Amino acid sequence: MTKVKEWPFGITPDNYPEFMGRSSEHTTRKGKDMAGYFQGTPEPEKVIYEVYEAETTGHICMALTILKPGKVGKEYHMTKGHYHEDQEAGEIYVCLKGKGIIIMQTKDGLNGEIELEPGAVASIPPKWAHRTVNVGKKDFVMLAIYPATSGHDYGSIEKSGFLKRVIEEKGKPRIF
Ligand SMILES: [Fe+2]
Repeated sequence: MTKVKEWPFGITPDNYPEFMGRSSEHTTRKGKDMAGYFQGTPEPEKVIYEVYEAETTGHICMALTILKPGKVGKEYHMTKGHYHEDQEAGEIYVCLKGKGIIIMQTKDGLNGEIELEPGAVASIPPKWAHRTVNVGKKDFVMLAIYPATSGHDYGSIEKSGFLKRVIEEKGKPRIF
């Protein structure tokens, strides 16, 4: 008999730490891992965000991102952001906690953003790079759902950066 890993599982804004315990991969991005991404220099040991990925089963992956509140200079904490290696793969984000903005762009120079608050669902179409920014004062927690074959292309963003940045101005987030 095939051994089935313990799943299915419902995720809510209150029980998401259980998902962290069940995930098969855990990545922590500290300031030193994000040198060159911010306009300023982040403190090397400061945790910017964590990602917990569920084991790939079938065609869909799930990843939980916890983006810590804070700024580097005036720039809000953000993820590295990426294109998908499979340019035909889109993604769905579900916001569980906090206040965030997804910054998106295409290689043709289109750009856009979606604001996220708890309960909001965002659709990221194929070919759009995506980065999440925490513009709130608490953890920003979101679930990403994407095809298991999508892959992550971080290199293109590392080279080109994003067209827009989210900066605090007069106490509020502004996109430049
Ligand atoms: Fe993605």
